[in-house]
Amino acid sequence: MNEYIAIETSPSLQGTVDLAGAKNAILVIMASLILTRGKSTLSNVPYSEDVLHMIRLLESLGAQVVHDEETKTLTVDTSSISSVHIGPDIMKKMRASILVLGPLLARFGKADVALPGGCVLGMRPIDYHIKSFAKMGATFTQSNDLLHAQANSLKAIDHILAYPSVGATENIMMAAVLAKGSTRIINAAIEPEVLDLVEVLRKMGARIELEAPATIIIEGVSSLESINHHVMYDRLEAGTLILAAAITGGGIALPTAPAASMTVFLSLLEEMGHEVTFGLQGQGIFFKATSHPRAVSFKTMPYPGFPTDLQAPMMAALCLASGTSVIHETVYENRLVHVRELQKMGAQIVIDGQTATVVGVDELYGAAVIASDIRAGAALLIAGLAAHGQTTMTGVHHIKRGYDGIVPKLAALRGRISAHYDEC
Ligand code: EPZ
Repeated sequence: MNEYIAIETSPSLQGTVDLAGAKNAILVIMASLILTRGKSTLSNVPYSEDVLHMIRLLESLGAQVVHDEETKTLTVDTSSISSVHIGPDIMKKMRASILVLGPLLARFGKADVALPGGCVLGMRPIDYHIKSFAKMGATFTQSNDLLHAQANSLKAIDHILAYPSVGATENIMMAAVLAKGSTRIINAAIEPEVLDLVEVLRKMGARIELEAPATIIIEGVSSLESINHHVMYDRLEAGTLILAAAITGGGIALPTAPAASMTVFLSLLEEMGHEVTFGLQGQGIFFKATSHPRAVSFKTMPYPGFPTDLQAPMMAALCLASGTSVIHETVYENRLVHVRELQKMGAQIVIDGQTATVVGVDELYGAAVIASDIRAGAALLIAGLAAHGQTTMTGVHHIKRGYDGIVPKLAALRGRISAHYDEC
């Protein structure tokens, strides 16, 4: 077993924790810099393998990137970008690479990208992205698994999304900001990370308005300027840490947590019997676990519904709640792979399609488990903190890809957890 994380039964987590910048904001914001010619500075940048991959992707296009891990800042000079080709070695490593398609088409009118890898969450197609770009006038040819996209000029049109896809919304927006005329994205994703991208594009000089309930209107402009931006804090890291405190009966403070964007998740924690209080102006969460958590049921939904990315960590905490919880995953067709691993630890869970029924048990037991995706891995870390005996988790590259130092953060809160791998 070369790389693994070891977790022992832990005391209740206590303490204060600073969050990292949001993984699902930083990647698309880095891609959006391709739209500008100049030097931009990003602060509050999380340190993860996905960020390192995106740096390598930008450098492969010719951008100059300076990454200061100490100060968590990135300086990206895109004036030297000269290529529109991204090879499979980079594209396959990270699905978010597809987010460079919109900016490349907008700025250069062409892009050669390898098709992104799928992952265990399911096929994870990119049909919404391709169809939308085709409607804007882009043409596509495919040779092997390289996609050649060409668009002399992109048209500003209405897009009606069959599903509020986060990536498709972001890609269309980035393609539209330089398209002459008015683009509307109807049934758009409005996740906080999408809105952080809207803020970045507006800083660049883009003209973007939001119209209730979920329409994004973009008036094309002729060029965009480089920017400075502080990346939003990661609500998914906050939820993960809170659930680790919940399962150990602990109490933690997260002064930078974006509480206002976590209401559905936090209200379910209160329904379980936990105590949640907020800082001023909807920022900051102070969490205190109940010693007798109750079962709750929920289904995952696009924002502002319960986030699919907290479904697995929440399921872990519900394994030890009293009663039966019914969890329905509606966003992905295959996001219950962590159930099998939780069952190895003694969890009582039955799956029917995309619905998991969790009957609370008194104890979980340490086991050798495997992370199948980033949030499944987080769920297993959470379960391991409360399980009797040692849990060893492999598949740690998922954790390294998407969390910035979650192991030392849990250890600093009294979690008995150690990483046995080279930090990325
Ligand atoms: C983003 O992925 C996030 N990733 C995911 O976070 C998150 O789970 C997801 O949004 C939903 O909130 C990043 O932002 C980097 P989607 P994305 O397009 O954009 C289907 C994590 O754990 N779909 O909203 O890829 C798709 O298969 C990761 O942090 C199509 O069918 O998600 C899925 O079932 C995991 N065709 C659903 O829509 C398409 O062209 C939602 O996907 C695109 C998507």
